Amino acid sequence: MPVSHATPPQSAAGPGIEALRGQDPEMAEIIGAESARQASTLQLIAAENFASPAVLAALGSPLVNKYAEGYPGARHHGGCEIVDLAERTAADRARALFGAEHANVQPHSGSSAVLAAYAALLRPGDTVLAMALPAGGHLTHGSPANFSGRWFDFVGYGVDPESGLLDMDQVRALARTHRPKALVCGSISYPRHLDYAAFREIADEVGAHLIADAAHPLGLVAGRVAPSPVPYADLVCGTTHKVLRGPRGGLLLCGAQFAERVDRAVFPFTQGGAQMNSVAAKAVAFGEAARPEFASYARQVVANARALAACLAEEGLTVITGGTDTHLVLADPAPLGIEGRAARTRLAAAGLVVDTCALPHPETRGLRLGTAALTTQGMREPETALIGRLFAAVLRGERDARTAREEIGELTAYFPPYGGSPADGGG
Ligand SMILES: Cc1ncc(COP(=O)(O)O)c(C=O)c1O
Repeated sequence: MPVSHATPPQSAAGPGIEALRGQDPEMAEIIGAESARQASTLQLIAAENFASPAVLAALGSPLVNKYAEGYPGARHHGGCEIVDLAERTAADRARALFGAEHANVQPHSGSSAVLAAYAALLRPGDTVLAMALPAGGHLTHGSPANFSGRWFDFVGYGVDPESGLLDMDQVRALARTHRPKALVCGSISYPRHLDYAAFREIADEVGAHLIADAAHPLGLVAGRVAPSPVPYADLVCGTTHKVLRGPRGGLLLCGAQFAERVDRAVFPFTQGGAQMNSVAAKAVAFGEAARPEFASYARQVVANARALAACLAEEGLTVITGGTDTHLVLADPAPLGIEGRAARTRLAAAGLVVDTCALPHPETRGLRLGTAALTTQGMREPETALIGRLFAAVLRGERDARTAREEIGELTAYFPPYGGSPADGGG
């Protein structure tokens, strides 16, 4: 049973949910049910986390009412003096947190940030070298179903099918052959640190821009437990959710020489008015991430991911790359006699919420897990190991869904995401 000391954040329900209950009980019930789901099951989706009550307060603030096209001091609307302060604060905090000369905090999402990065540096039809989707590239890295694959000529690099590790010789060879306009580094599932200096060297050799899509590791960079792409990449794209634990949204970082191009690429080229409540919530998250407690949190996220990877390997799953440097664990459940998709369904029934993902050997799908959310709940290595053992027992069919849910219920009652009981709609 749980042994770590939980220090979860305060309840996030706030007075807003009461107002909603009176006016729109139907939607209040849906929100309450989702809050209860989040609090009573285990969120092992690597891209998810629990934003703090302070972030939620900023998101639900009257800044949502303000139209603010443009940038602080140069808006297309009146009455922006105060939201200008919010945006300046967010950008200043982002610059300080990541050591960047310029930050654009307006992208509505990670995908919007990538779109703006391409808009700033490329023209339709340009060749771009990025991680192939089956190897862990994001949709915005050349999927034919996405603007990226439709408007640019993407070439994909992969990972070694045996080790699951990036092969920088292959990246260099492809860059020499295809002479891309941009080289993109970043992934949705690569559990190891990237060698940004090596990517920069390859980009320089072929005259390409280097774009780091750091959506996943950005929170670890903020917590000083992962290398920063900022000194190496021309543009860094990121999300403010995930490990960074802010509101759902995007972010762009760059040197002063790209500032104007980036700003114009976000507004007016790819977006309209900034969402000022979200910008304010980003500022709150950057403020939180600058504190020493966040560095401890980031260290614990990685320690928990390592403990989870070690436990899953002991239990017989294949852990891709043999472990992790980050919050991500990639595992193939095939040795336990179950394929990734069936495993996700069985785990979900048991209250363990995970994603499937592509594997270096593409015949089957694997599982992508992350430790950002459970670490926010205050769980440490003992709980993570307990979760790993339960996970394997569910996959082997040794633990039925009801028993597993009971065990998870005990754990989450001790480590609630927002300090309240699951029933109070805690978030
Ligand atoms: C590497 C990478 N880029 C971009 C994104 C897109 O972020 P969003 O879902 O906010 O558009 C993600 C999201 O998971 C990501 O992992």
